[in-house]
Amino acid sequence: MKDLDPLPQIVDGEDKSSPLKNCIRNNYRHLRKWAKRTQTDCFRIYDKQIKEFPLAIDFYAGRFCVHYFSDDDAPRTDLVEAATHAICSLFDVTPDALFSRTRIKREKTQQYEKTGENKEFFTVREYGAHFRVNLLDYLDTGLFLDHRETRRLVASMSKDKRVLNLFAYTCSFSVHAALSGAQFTKSVDMSNTYTTWGRNNFSLNALSLKNNPVIRADCLKFLEEEILSREKYDIIIIDPPTISRSKKMDQMFDIQIDYIPLLTKALQLLSKDGLIIFSTNSRKFAFDESLFPACNIVDISSKTIPVDFHNQKIHRCWKISFK
Ligand SMILES: C[S@@+](CC[C@H](N)C(=O)[O-])C[C@H]1O[C@@H](n2cnc3c(N)ncnc32)[C@H](O)[C@@H]1O
Repeated sequence: MKDLDPLPQIVDGEDKSSPLKNCIRNNYRHLRKWAKRTQTDCFRIYDKQIKEFPLAIDFYAGRFCVHYFSDDDAPRTDLVEAATHAICSLFDVTPDALFSRTRIKREKTQQYEKTGENKEFFTVREYGAHFRVNLLDYLDTGLFLDHRETRRLVASMSKDKRVLNLFAYTCSFSVHAALSGAQFTKSVDMSNTYTTWGRNNFSLNALSLKNNPVIRADCLKFLEEEILSREKYDIIIIDPPTISRSKKMDQMFDIQIDYIPLLTKALQLLSKDGLIIFSTNSRKFAFDESLFPACNIVDISSKTIPVDFHNQKIHRCWKISFK
């Protein structure tokens, strides 16, 4: 692959014959200005906006991750050809800058570990923070782009605060909090792979792991132990999977059932004026707010969905504090 410009110019002129190209061109031109201004080089450049092209394209510093949505294993050949042609001609890249994911509508148990062994990590920037990304070896890339504005929100509140990041994955929330002056962050995830990845993200941003420990644990068990140690946090981020199963857990995790013990325990760790940011991408999730009568619960989803995401249901997000 030739050297990649993290924010290339569109090169293919004004050929208006392809609706997919037109849409990507318009989206990217608009986003590139914002991206330069905000020191960001990863964002969504196409999000199923045209019915005939049911795909999404994420841009990661000169590389492209194309998500095909399919009922079976292989994406439609005509879609692959259209997306490849549009990206290669607009950005003057060769197909090796393109990576693809097929989102198959299958049972929803999420598997977050490895799918390949290529170890092709590279660095992207988001609001000035650096993150390691891998478009080949894992089911997800290392950075969930739909939470960019949620991370910015957390960063904006983090100065001098103690922050707990549960289901931390690669620690992107806690890295942003630490860069914005959090006094202390703690990140918890069950996976060895992702706790290591998270520690690498802290190091990449010259942040000490002493003030920003990354703990490998089942979050529900961790919360019980942390309550016994009488720790308190000003901000607690809870962005769990919809469903997960692992040998490392006693039981399956199901957001619809487990949000109740999760929030109940997290509230015991929350300082008096503290704030929980709780999020899910489960479409079916129903939040029974009456179970938490001592709390103010505000749905902030419309503020946390980035402009480059055209599906308003990509995630939901709430702010939870004591009344
Ligand atoms: C949806 S991702 C979280 C995304 C993350 N909050 C972010 O914004 O990047 C789910 C993560 O939860 C972790 N996980 C799943 N079940 C867990 C559990 N019971 N305890 C701790 N981590 C768990 C997985 O390893 C995975 O990294």
